[in-house]
Amino acid sequence: MKALAFLVAGAALALAAGAAPAADPAAGEAIYARCLACHALAYDRTGPRHCGLFGRRAGSVAGFAYSEAMKRSKIVWNGKTLDRFLANPMAAVPGTAMGYAGVTDRQERADLIAYLERENRSAACRK
Ligand code: HEC
Repeated sequence: MKALAFLVAGAALALAAGAAPAADPAAGEAIYARCLACHALAYDRTGPRHCGLFGRRAGSVAGFAYSEAMKRSKIVWNGKTLDRFLANPMAAVPGTAMGYAGVTDRQERADLIAYLERENRSAACRK
């Protein structure tokens, strides 16, 4: 009986682990290569800079020409809102100027967001 309870607890733990995959910033760096077509961490390109992203209101980098849709979205960027946006940008913010289909793989998004978090704490973003 005790062994059974242990097994059940183990299965629950395994399920919980499946729900929140461990994020790997090193793997995320490779995925960020897809974003480099339009973005850089420290300066604006076709897309706005990603330094300072966490806690920033969507559409608020001064001098960047955002779409009205992004400016009006009322999103504040954090792990959760980024996950939603990056899964399908054009569905999450209809009318966005970010012409990118998104990152459909949940693990890839988690890795990518972990990479962005790490870089935001790094010297590259503190200049
Ligand atoms: C084809 C060019 C392009 C690609 C590729 C692209 N983006 Fe963007 N991104 C943009 C543009 C343009 C905007 C501004 C959107 C708007 O104003 O509606 C934007 C906006 C954003 C924003 C909102 C930032 C803010 O200041 O509110 C985030 C976050 C973002 N992109 C993340 C990413 C990530 C992560 C990737 C890679 C998976 C990516 N983008 C790939 C062009 C791109």
